[in-house]
Amino acid sequence: MSTPEKRHWENVYGTKAEDDVSWFQTYPKTSMDFVESLPVDLSANIIDIGGGDSRLVDALLEKGYQNIWVLDISAASIEKARKRLGANAAKVHWIVSDVTEFTPPVKYRVWHDRAAFHFLTTGDKITRYLSIAEDAIHPGGYLVLGTFSENGPTKCSGLEIKQYSETSMTTQFESSFEKLQCITEDHQTPFNTTQNFTFCSFRRNNKAGNIE
Ligand SMILES: C[S@@+](CC[C@H](N)C(=O)[O-])C[C@H]1O[C@@H](n2cnc3c(N)ncnc32)[C@H](O)[C@@H]1O
Repeated sequence: MSTPEKRHWENVYGTKAEDDVSWFQTYPKTSMDFVESLPVDLSANIIDIGGGDSRLVDALLEKGYQNIWVLDISAASIEKARKRLGANAAKVHWIVSDVTEFTPPVKYRVWHDRAAFHFLTTGDKITRYLSIAEDAIHPGGYLVLGTFSENGPTKCSGLEIKQYSETSMTTQFESSFEKLQCITEDHQTPFNTTQNFTFCSFRRNNKAGNIE
């Protein structure tokens, strides 16, 4: 189904070069530092939500992760990432879907999201995301989330976003996730500006609300 959000992102990835967008990184160091800090096997299912044509998948493949999934609302972004990876693209599970409509085919040990969750600005969409993430992440599995901070921009790619502090992000996820670590960081855009992010990792509680 074509929604205004999907049309926006198909247009962005259909018209802009990889390094012509503010979120571009040659190496996603913070994301990789978070993922590598987690005690998960290289065979674990790891999903990058709103991964677009991010090079996180390249970095994960390089480190030897074997079950990588990339989900994005934009088919054009996935096509760009697949082209860049060439033969290695066949090692990755690719999903074109709005995350709020996602039916996870497996349970994930790691759910990573850099700058996708913050586009959900209505209570309804946020609740849907939370319930899908709760269901998709294995009890004892991990959520790594990066959004613009309260010192960051109020828009991303021209769209309104919701900023998070460590406290507001933790509060949003606390019913099912235990906070592990949070940082703020300045992302240097390709246009020589900075964007302040909040990045946190969380551990999924088990169904009874306790840690497995
Ligand atoms: C600012 S970009 C960040 C891309 C990538 N995570 C990175 O850090 O380089 C936001 C990404 O989220 C995707 N996105 C936005 N809303 C989405 C949604 N509702 N479901 C799935 N993907 C979405 C966009 O297509 C885009 O690739």
